[in-house]
Amino acid sequence: MQKKPVPKTKLFFAFQRLTMDKQPMYYGGYLHLDKILDAQYPASFENGHEPAHDEMLFIIIHQAYELWFKQILFELDYAKTIFSQEKINDNSEDLNLVRHRLHRVISILQLLNQQVHILDTMTPLDFLEFRNLLTPSSGFQSKQFRLIEAELGLELENRHQKEYYKRTNEGGFTKEDYQAITETENKKNLLQLVNNWLERMPFFEKDYWSGYKPVTPAVTTDHSFWNDYRYIYQSGLTEREQTKIHDFDYVFFEKIPVGYTSEQLAALRGSFSPAALRAALFIMLYRDFPVFQTSYQLLDALIEIDHLMSNWRHSHLNMVRRMIGMRVGTGNTSGSGYLEGALNKHFVYRDLSGLTTYLIERKKLPKLPGELINNLGFNPL
Ligand code: HEM
Repeated sequence: MQKKPVPKTKLFFAFQRLTMDKQPMYYGGYLHLDKILDAQYPASFENGHEPAHDEMLFIIIHQAYELWFKQILFELDYAKTIFSQEKINDNSEDLNLVRHRLHRVISILQLLNQQVHILDTMTPLDFLEFRNLLTPSSGFQSKQFRLIEAELGLELENRHQKEYYKRTNEGGFTKEDYQAITETENKKNLLQLVNNWLERMPFFEKDYWSGYKPVTPAVTTDHSFWNDYRYIYQSGLTEREQTKIHDFDYVFFEKIPVGYTSEQLAALRGSFSPAALRAALFIMLYRDFPVFQTSYQLLDALIEIDHLMSNWRHSHLNMVRRMIGMRVGTGNTSGSGYLEGALNKHFVYRDLSGLTTYLIERKKLPKLPGELINNLGFNPL
């Protein structure tokens, strides 16, 4: 017997229209390559100019940098969101993801450090063919680079020749970019959030230390662990290093040593608070305990990011010296003079990298009390 055809409903036709209209995903469309690959307009290719072959490379390398800057900002925003939480569980997925994503930032920065060398295939004479057409624009105006610096924790006050950053005339930022950078600078940066997170660490709560057996009777701080630590640290200093104990007292306990200038003090400790640095040092000292692993790796990642930013500044400076010698930059700064100043001054996490000054030998580490170990969530020794 012949089957009666099933009547087609309105819904059937609507569904058919929908599936017919929907284009299958296409590589170029998904990536919007029409926009990205149609965004290279060398100024020297325009009428009235002699096309400079290497300007294409110059544009593409900057664009590639900006794309990676975008990804770095995306990861830093995530890290900031997590650290903005009032309570973060040290063993949580969140903290682990921050660590993972900061390591991604490290990988990207390693790539960006390599990328500078592609410009070595452009000679200074090749660059001169189009350099004047770029004036007064420059990498100095990279809004995303400034946002990365600001999100990591570089504050306007600590920038080299900060008046350059306030320019909104030629060579400076547009009003919109300047506003966006200022807004980011006014929000809490990663350094401040990490500082607050470290300050909240419960390591030194007195309840956890009631069973602790002090090594020294000397009372130099208000905590028996630090009395011992200070004593052991001082005992390990060589004759030439004796003044380091004053640095220790200032960095961790805000005791201002007699005769130190404000510049000396600023060189000893930057934006982190003494309480945060005590917690960071503690994490570094006891990093072999599983419970400190993620926190330690996070701090280490921030130090590494700082180093890689500095390596990039260094490679860029060398490349600039080779390319334009001592000429001023197209962005109207003093050129390599400015870049060298920024290289020396724009470290953000030097407080953390400087903590190694205050380490002691592993075998001399005070033995942690059982209460603390139990409360931090790992098994008693
Ligand atoms: C021929 C190649 C390049 C030359 C000669 C050059 C030169 C300079 C100079 C002289 C400055 C100081 C500002 C000024 O007065 O212009 C500067 C800043 C800067 N450039 Fe380049 N640059 C080159 C390539 C690049 C590339 C490929 C990037 C990648 C994004 C870049 C990013 C930057 C950034 C971010 C700054 C600001 C650095 C800071 O403030 O610490 N530059 N550049």
